[in-house]
Amino acid sequence: MEALAMEHKAEQNRLLKERLLELKKERNAIILAHYYQRDEIQEVADFRGDSFLLAQKAAETDADVIVFCGVHFMGESAKILAPDKTVLIPDERAGCPMADMVNVDGLRELKKRHPNAKVVTYINSSAEIKAETDICCTSSNAIKVIQSLDTDEIIWVPDKNLGQYVQKFTDKKMIIWEGYCNTHDMLTVKDIEEMRSQHPNAEVVVHPECRPEVVAMADFVGSTTAIIDYCKKSDSKEFIVGTEDGTGYQLELDSPDKKFYFASKYLVCPNMKVNNLKKLVRALETMQPQIYVPPHIADKARASLLRMLEVK
Ligand code: 13P
Ligand code: SF4
Repeated sequence: MEALAMEHKAEQNRLLKERLLELKKERNAIILAHYYQRDEIQEVADFRGDSFLLAQKAAETDADVIVFCGVHFMGESAKILAPDKTVLIPDERAGCPMADMVNVDGLRELKKRHPNAKVVTYINSSAEIKAETDICCTSSNAIKVIQSLDTDEIIWVPDKNLGQYVQKFTDKKMIIWEGYCNTHDMLTVKDIEEMRSQHPNAEVVVHPECRPEVVAMADFVGSTTAIIDYCKKSDSKEFIVGTEDGTGYQLELDSPDKKFYFASKYLVCPNMKVNNLKKLVRALETMQPQIYVPPHIADKARASLLRMLEVK
């Protein structure tokens, strides 16, 4: 019975992939997928990547349509960077709770209290927040972005864990917002200790969205791309991974001879998993849901994203 269901699912996926290829051609579309997407989406993407790489791809593409398989703020960033393109997302309910933890009024209030501070905003934020920002960053360039600024004071939104990690690399005063990622923040010291006792030869690699005490236990800390690259180059054969479990797709593709143990069964972002292959095909079929960002917001937000892309 189970075998029959699997066969049916495989046949459905084959047909969906066929239709996707036709639609991509018809619409002159490109598919961008974050590493936290389901395998069935990563498999058909033109580019898989972390937030930074995908923002770069969106800014550079000459396709007419971008289908952004990730969460809403990623689609929004793509639309801001490529305003003339149609940007689709497979399911508009794919939000990011961390991005929703900061609001414009609160940020304006903080700016009033610290008039000399520059606002650095993690890309995991809404277009409205980016419009109130001096420069954006992602987890892969946060340290470089902070070091590029000629100011002694920084307002950092919204991720407190990434903010505390970055603070270790700068003497600048950072006023850190209290946001966090529900998925990464759930990982505990106990989880790592337990995994280490089961896999004593494994290296621990974690995302800086994890709590500081978890980050302190890691052999390597970095964005999803940085983690994937590190594991590929490392001489170790086993890794305890402290980031979202979708990353396993690229880790195994790049390092098929190595073993990856996710540090907790809760390392799953439910928002990222809302998207699936069927919804991706339907988005291209119906050209919905489309991302719209009001031009007066987009123009200001674009400046903060472009400043980030210029940091070398
Ligand atoms: P990166 O893609 O920058 O590693 O960020 C992880 C994340 O949580 C995206 O939502
Ligand atoms: Fe947001 Fe965390 Fe999910 Fe990334 S993994 S989309 S930061 S909730």
